Amino acid sequence: MDELARLLSARHMVRRYTDEPVTEDVLEQLLDLARRAPSAGNTQPWSFLVLRDGDVDRYWATTMPDPEARSRFRWQGLLSAPVLVVPYVCPDAYAERYGEADKAGTGLGAGIAAWPVPYWWVDGGAVVQNLLLLATAAGLGACLFGQFEHEAAVRAAFGVPDDQRALGTISLGWPAPDEPGRSAGRPRPALDQVLHRGFWQRERNDGRSDG
Ligand SMILES: Cc1cc2nc3c(=O)[nH]c(=O)nc-3n(C[C@H](O)[C@H](O)[C@H](O)COP(=O)(O)O)c2cc1C
Repeated sequence: MDELARLLSARHMVRRYTDEPVTEDVLEQLLDLARRAPSAGNTQPWSFLVLRDGDVDRYWATTMPDPEARSRFRWQGLLSAPVLVVPYVCPDAYAERYGEADKAGTGLGAGIAAWPVPYWWVDGGAVVQNLLLLATAAGLGACLFGQFEHEAAVRAAFGVPDDQRALGTISLGWPAPDEPGRSAGRPRPALDQVLHRGFWQRERNDGRSDG
């Protein structure tokens, strides 16, 4: 518990890295452990695309093709991350899994449109958090960032099948001094503001509840 508490407090997005390489051994260990995440029906919908060297260059050429825009990019350290990991989930795997005999009664095998909550995003988030915490435990720095409108282009550039959805991209490397992201300084609300015991009441500024 103490070690996990320390890791949870220490974890933060790192957007600049040293030149020291991340060995394949370390990376494989992280990815192997990261997938020990919970998933609905134990579907385990995830896959990882690992990019190094020329593939990292190709990733940035795909998502930020304009050299001018790239030179103006705020997070120059991200551009020289030695490793990029793109975690993918396969939503169709859920329909397939829930079409199996033990899950047939749920009706969720009909297709992903039948899912009131798209659990692939929930389960994908668990894998991402695992990976970020494992990176912290290994002394590595990592940052999850969005692919925004480039998801299809990244899929095409690296031969990723169309049924895969990217959760974002995770840069990895040994941490170098950097500055925190713009959003990182947003205050964490007091626990009481997010905790609702028994009945959801909104606290007013004067401390009385407005129900
Ligand atoms: C789903 C998701 C998408 C994010 N996208 C970006 C991004 O595109 N660029 C970026 O610099 N940081 C991104 N972040 C990092 C957040 O800004 C960061 O986690 C948040 O400010 C808290 O800071 P910390 O993780 O360092 O504690 C993303 C985080 C998450 C969870």
